[in-house]
Amino acid sequence: MSLFDLTGKVAIVTGSSRGIGRAIAEQMAVQGAKVVISSRKADACQEVVDAINARHGAGTAIAVPANISSKDDLQRLVDETNRTFGRIDVLVCNAASNPYYGPMAGVTDEQFRKVLDNNVISNHWLIQMVAPQMIERRDGSIIIVSSIGGLRGSPTIGVYNISKAADFQLARNLAVEFGPHNVRVNCIAPGLIKTDFARALWEDPVRYRQSTENAPLRRIGEPVEIAGAAVFLASRASSFMTGQAIVVDGGVTI
Ligand SMILES: NC(=O)c1ccc[n+]([C@@H]2O[C@H](COP(=O)([O-])OP(=O)(O)OC[C@H]3O[C@@H](n4cnc5c(N)ncnc54)[C@H](OP(=O)(O)O)[C@@H]3O)[C@@H](O)[C@H]2O)c1
Repeated sequence: MSLFDLTGKVAIVTGSSRGIGRAIAEQMAVQGAKVVISSRKADACQEVVDAINARHGAGTAIAVPANISSKDDLQRLVDETNRTFGRIDVLVCNAASNPYYGPMAGVTDEQFRKVLDNNVISNHWLIQMVAPQMIERRDGSIIIVSSIGGLRGSPTIGVYNISKAADFQLARNLAVEFGPHNVRVNCIAPGLIKTDFARALWEDPVRYRQSTENAPLRRIGEPVEIAGAAVFLASRASSFMTGQAIVVDGGVTI
């Protein structure tokens, strides 16, 4: 059996209606997983579900819309997944927000709290809801999509970077807590990826050149180039890895 095989596994991926989350869900389905597609917009989720089910068979994917800033929505996401598939083996905390662009001096308290709520506390909520069944079965993989922003300072996305650095620490803490129960927690730290989220950074040719001229691979990444790390972390291939972050950034941080 392939080390990367996910047959029989059930994965929730937040923010999977497009971008990195969609690519992760699609590639997990390719490896045999059942996947739960979630974002705020039901139509967008259903479109992804229909595409995955057309390729891998009816019942491979379901849509459960949920706003990560709502604890009730997240509980519904977990409950509906359990009702449909009976278990959750893999949790990918991928959705995040970045409502403010500028120096720390200009961020409002409300914006700062929103970033921490959506990028850190919501991950904590969802993990609190899912981890008990993983601990009981002594098997599970939790993946947090952080960012190379969490490894660096920034004059413009500092608040977001603070939240992404906190995600690295969330993974380390939980890896220590859950390790004795064979539940692993890791992060992925993408560099600049061609999605709506980062459109401002790649659409403008001047900013694109600035972002890529010193990058060893001389380009930005595609969503599917993050999905391989997620499949690795979800599968038996990474069974001795916990509390870590995999940087996937075309070499930018080196
Ligand atoms: N793109 C990059 O360059 C880059 C680099 C480093 C890290 N990241 C990280 O990668 C992750 C995914 O980003 P992406 O680039 O793939 O973004 P994206 O293409 O804009 O997709 C974001 C996804 O999250 C959903 N979403 C947004 N707000 C949500 C909320 N409040 N509740 C539930 N779902 C929500 C969106 O759907 P709806 O609008 O329907 O809710 C969509 O499915 C984020 O954690 C981001 O910080 C991205």
